Amino acid sequence: MESATDYWAARAALAWQVELGADEALSETPVNRFEIKERAKPEVPTRARNPEAAEPAAVPEPPPEAPKVDPVAAARAAAEAAGSLEELKAALGAFEHCELRRGARNLVFADGAPGSRVMIIGEAPGREEDREGRPFVGSAGKLLDRMLAAIGLSRAESVYITNVLPWRPPQNREPKPDEIAMMRPFVQRHVQLAGPEIVILMGNISCDAGLQKRGVTRLRGKWTESYGLPAMPMVDPAYLLREPEAKREAWADLLEIKARLET
Ligand code: URA
Repeated sequence: MESATDYWAARAALAWQVELGADEALSETPVNRFEIKERAKPEVPTRARNPEAAEPAAVPEPPPEAPKVDPVAAARAAAEAAGSLEELKAALGAFEHCELRRGARNLVFADGAPGSRVMIIGEAPGREEDREGRPFVGSAGKLLDRMLAAIGLSRAESVYITNVLPWRPPQNREPKPDEIAMMRPFVQRHVQLAGPEIVILMGNISCDAGLQKRGVTRLRGKWTESYGLPAMPMVDPAYLLREPEAKREAWADLLEIKARLET
């Protein structure tokens, strides 16, 4: 009889596979492909062994290699061709050069009110965001909503929110430099099309994409320029959940943003 331990171990193994992106079972029984012997290759008769053998058929030339695509140039072309937020979302949906899309459930494009004076650019979707297809909906998102409310802003009416990466990195791993580089043109165009007055760069990845600098705890609190607009680097609310003592500084940054909006 199956024990409770077997059940929970099997369930944990299944959950782990789902987490990795498996969404389909191909067979009921596992196949260990290391154990499958390489199929014997048919011997090619050589003229030396068999003088009667016909001339070996000419080996077909391998097809010419597809020209290498520069993913950053492809991203720039796709992003610049988008004339609206809907077109930009569709361009991202059709962008094939970022491997992250293959492990993600959903494209996480944006949330909030386009045309708001404030645009928040976060890092990357986490598990909840990947499930719902909206940025900042997990516990960090709830904290973000409370932070915004504290300075009289709300995502429904006065803030527009996106992330540098529209797909969740597997296991929330750190995005790679080439992934950030190929998403930067999309973020740039996203800012142009959303038309905010200021941008908030939330987290290190966002500072990397927007300022080509990391070290958000050092950069935070000082106005800078990014995507051609005044920009405030701030720590990500997920960081605040782990390091609650950093909330004091985040509060100071929020007041700085409020003051700027009131001038
Ligand atoms: N942190 C981010 O930077 N983005 C999200 O969407 C959620 C958490």
